[in-house]
Amino acid sequence: MLAMNFRGPQRVRIDEKPVPEILHPQDAIVRVTRSCICGSDLHLYNGSVPDTRVGMTFGHEVTGVVEQVGPEVENLKVGDHVLVPFNIACGKCVFCRQELYGNCHESNPEATAVGGIYGYSHTAGGYDGGQAEYVRVPYADVGPVVIPEGMDPDDAVMLTDVVPTGYQAAEMGGIQPGDTVVVFGAGPVGIMAARCAWLFGAGRVIVIDQIDYRLDFVRRYAPCEAYDFRSIGDPVLFLKKTTDWLGADVCIDAVGAEANGSPAQNLLGRGMKLVAGATPALHWAINSVKKGGIVSIVGVYGPTQSLVPIGNVVNKGITIRANQASVKRLLPRLIEHVQNGILDPKALITHRIPLEYVSDAYRMFSAKLDDCIKPVLLPPAARA
Ligand SMILES: NC(=O)c1ccc[n+]([C@@H]2O[C@H](COP(=O)([O-])OP(=O)(O)OC[C@H]3O[C@@H](n4cnc5c(N)ncnc54)[C@H](O)[C@@H]3O)[C@@H](O)[C@H]2O)c1
Ligand SMILES: [Zn+2]
Ligand SMILES: [Zn+2]
Repeated sequence: MLAMNFRGPQRVRIDEKPVPEILHPQDAIVRVTRSCICGSDLHLYNGSVPDTRVGMTFGHEVTGVVEQVGPEVENLKVGDHVLVPFNIACGKCVFCRQELYGNCHESNPEATAVGGIYGYSHTAGGYDGGQAEYVRVPYADVGPVVIPEGMDPDDAVMLTDVVPTGYQAAEMGGIQPGDTVVVFGAGPVGIMAARCAWLFGAGRVIVIDQIDYRLDFVRRYAPCEAYDFRSIGDPVLFLKKTTDWLGADVCIDAVGAEANGSPAQNLLGRGMKLVAGATPALHWAINSVKKGGIVSIVGVYGPTQSLVPIGNVVNKGITIRANQASVKRLLPRLIEHVQNGILDPKALITHRIPLEYVSDAYRMFSAKLDDCIKPVLLPPAARA
């Protein structure tokens, strides 16, 4: 089958790989109909996530048709068109039982922090992902959900990550009616977080990024105020000024460990790799939230240490909430929001690209060319 193949930092290509097989009675094999590229994939692409092995296939945002099921699979049947949450979760461990599906204790033998994630390095279990024609889905009774009748598959694929992650970012912010919420990052996740902040009763939503077309998009889509951090001087001072010098009630980090805005951190973390990436967005979030406020982090930080102004967290009495999104927990209500038109996730999809051109797709999404917000890869059979 055709599959994306990681060859090293900033080098991916399309290759032939064997079609995956059932390895465990609870596995399913899914023929991919859509698979997105995510900001999280860019951390892998840039070589920022430890133990990202050459030969791995990325891709954790997948829809597809069930081709084969293992003998213990009960909830899925061949022919079902499913959306597959990015978390791989056993459904039975102490964490899954608390609906912490992103922190499953069984699906990732390599670590005790994050659970398994499709195509996300051996620190997240070493599973091959779905930027391919087929993908193996472990614990097939737990994650996948049959795409509801009438739902556009473009909406369905956004429910595997972007929608739940944006929603959970807002949820973890503990937004109270009337709160001012600042979202750092106007990528798909930040855009969705800004949109969802209103659902929790925000009174004002401000988004910070540096890419004009994304700022324009989020202004219309969320809708909200949006500013280029290069044109507002010190973003912390700017945000203090616009919030009566108190700071925002809630700050959301939807950027992660490869943030721009600090040449010193760029050199230290991205150039010399002495710490894990660059964290100016998180600095700004901590420094511009009000005392006693909440910082919600969904931006990805690797397992190695990063620079964080922890003294300010302590002295301001900030609550930090963070996690990988627990997709399966949120799906019932988010499917309803999409069906009722409260959320329109497919509007974020700007590019539909044949899987064969995966290398161009990565280059475009990484360099934010052609006004790209969210690219979806389509395998040949899905285009027929
Ligand atoms: N926790 C989860 O479950 C989860 C799920 C999906 C994605 N993520 C993470 O969320 C983050 C965003 O993902 P995405 O798909 O939207 O990525 P993306 O790369 O499309 O967007 C990131 C945006 O951040 C902007 N940015 C860079 N530095 C900034 C700064 N200092 N301040 C404000 N904005 C800045 C970029 O210009 C870009 O528009 C990534 O770190 C990704 O790994 C987490
Ligand atoms: Zn993702
Ligand atoms: Zn589990």
